[in-house]
Amino acid sequence: MPKIYIIGFMGSGKSFTGKRLSALLGYKFYDIDSLFEEKYHFTIHDFFEKFGEEAFRKLESDLLISTHSFENAVISTGGGTPCFFENMEFIKENGISVYLKMPPEKILYRLNQSKKPRPLVKSLQGAELLATVKSLLEKREEYYLRADIIIEAKFVDPAEIVTMILKQLQGYLSESI
Ligand code: S3P
Repeated sequence: MPKIYIIGFMGSGKSFTGKRLSALLGYKFYDIDSLFEEKYHFTIHDFFEKFGEEAFRKLESDLLISTHSFENAVISTGGGTPCFFENMEFIKENGISVYLKMPPEKILYRLNQSKKPRPLVKSLQGAELLATVKSLLEKREEYYLRADIIIEAKFVDPAEIVTMILKQLQGYLSESI
């Protein structure tokens, strides 16, 4: 039974898109960041402060692997999830992956609007933030670009993104029924 993994950089709208998509498909919605916070009773921000990124990545990967048993689910990952360990291989083997591709300038705009604290960029703003987004995105795109479906999310609004995903999913979903 199908699982759809939404991947992409921080601030690219993975949770919003995943939630909308799951509602339209009648699937359950999961968000790796929320699963983490519920399971470990720490906000991701506080966990990073106390235990550091390496410890976070290990637990994040374990949580991703625990989605193996989910059925009829849309799973929004964290921005870094596909880029560590064998996580992208796991995603490819276990579901249909959708990359929300966004240019750094749009990511920057959206991060500035967002209230979610993001430990990797929290002390940065302006040109420094843009430079960090660019270099991190450059490193991560080799993972993101392995997704089954790539959505150019540059000019379209969130509702349109969901329609575009649904259209492209049709072929995959009819194969898996
Ligand atoms: C991270 C992205 C965050 C969260 C953590 C690390 C990253 O999720 O998992 O702060 O490495 O890009 P969002 O992509 O939902 O912001």
